[in-house]
Amino acid sequence: MEQTLPLAISSPAQGDDEFLWGFWYPVLRSNRIRGRRLVTSARLEVPLVLGRDGAGKAFALRDVCPHRAFPLSLGRYDGHAVECAYHGWRFEAHTGQCRLVPSITEDSKLQCDRIHAGSFPCEERDGYVWAYFANPEGRSPGGCPPPPVPELPKYSGRYRIAHLSATLDCSMDTAIIGLMDPAHGPFVHRSWWWRSRRSIREKQKAFEPIPQGFRMSSHTPSANSAPYKLLKVYGAAVTTQIDFVLPNMRTEEVRCGKYWFTNRTTITPIRRDLCQLDFCAAWNLFSWFPLVAPLLHFFGRRFIAQDQRVIELQKPGLKVQPRMMLVDDADRQARWYFQLKSAYLASQQSGMPMQHPLEGPITLRWRS
Ligand code: FES
Ligand SMILES: [Fe+2]
Repeated sequence: MEQTLPLAISSPAQGDDEFLWGFWYPVLRSNRIRGRRLVTSARLEVPLVLGRDGAGKAFALRDVCPHRAFPLSLGRYDGHAVECAYHGWRFEAHTGQCRLVPSITEDSKLQCDRIHAGSFPCEERDGYVWAYFANPEGRSPGGCPPPPVPELPKYSGRYRIAHLSATLDCSMDTAIIGLMDPAHGPFVHRSWWWRSRRSIREKQKAFEPIPQGFRMSSHTPSANSAPYKLLKVYGAAVTTQIDFVLPNMRTEEVRCGKYWFTNRTTITPIRRDLCQLDFCAAWNLFSWFPLVAPLLHFFGRRFIAQDQRVIELQKPGLKVQPRMMLVDDADRQARWYFQLKSAYLASQQSGMPMQHPLEGPITLRWRS
């Protein structure tokens, strides 16, 4: 028998908006790092300094000198090593290993290559620089190498890609459950091109567990939103599938014969109370129509701005009432998110494999 009582949860019970270590997070758009410039960013409350070596490979160091915590980003970079501006210690850009301590004399016993600035494995995909956060200090994770970097699925050689981003003035948990909340659509995202309050109807969606997440199984998208109606011109059946995987990633795939549109939203904490939303879409649909990207930007920005506004307005309320209610079935995905997160944290503590909260396929019903 399905639970019918609302579940009241408060974030502290769910791990106090705890950050999840052991994942790749997007930390910067690739085009922000040019030449030998050092650029700063911050994710999971870790200050970062990023740059590229002579061959263009990006690196990410903790923007804190191990000597006296001076920002390395204020130092000099010659394409190989970053030199701290305070006492001139030099750190190899990709590993953070200290190469030079100018103050020591020749007979010094100090082994400077034992000193490291924090360093994060770094890769570029889909126009983002990603860093692997094994721990807050940027210590080498040791053991097995990091998993592959997440990549937006693409189903043809030629495609277009677009990016949108926003900062959200809330915790990662608040932003993520907003991301997977079907019930706010008709109220918050009301517009002629998406949906109206009158378009509310009963939905029934099948879900299944996938590693570290859950999938809204491939289905024909609901007929009540304009963008999907456009795809009818192709005559082929339209299917859509939406995945959520830890720590922060929602990926949607729309397929229509040989045409496809995929998009991914990640919510990455900058601080405990501030997040970065990165949206990236790729497609080979309507390639003859030059305005897909501008339209996507225009509507995407509005859509995100509607969510941003809700978050702003919700903020004072959450201060006095951090407890949130999760009401089945519309909020079941939010509940799974909290369960996945707890299961991940528990497995990290115990060293045992993660217990997946979903036992098997399940159908949820709600009105939206
Ligand atoms: S603080 Fe960086 S070298 Fe001293
Ligand atoms: Fe929304």
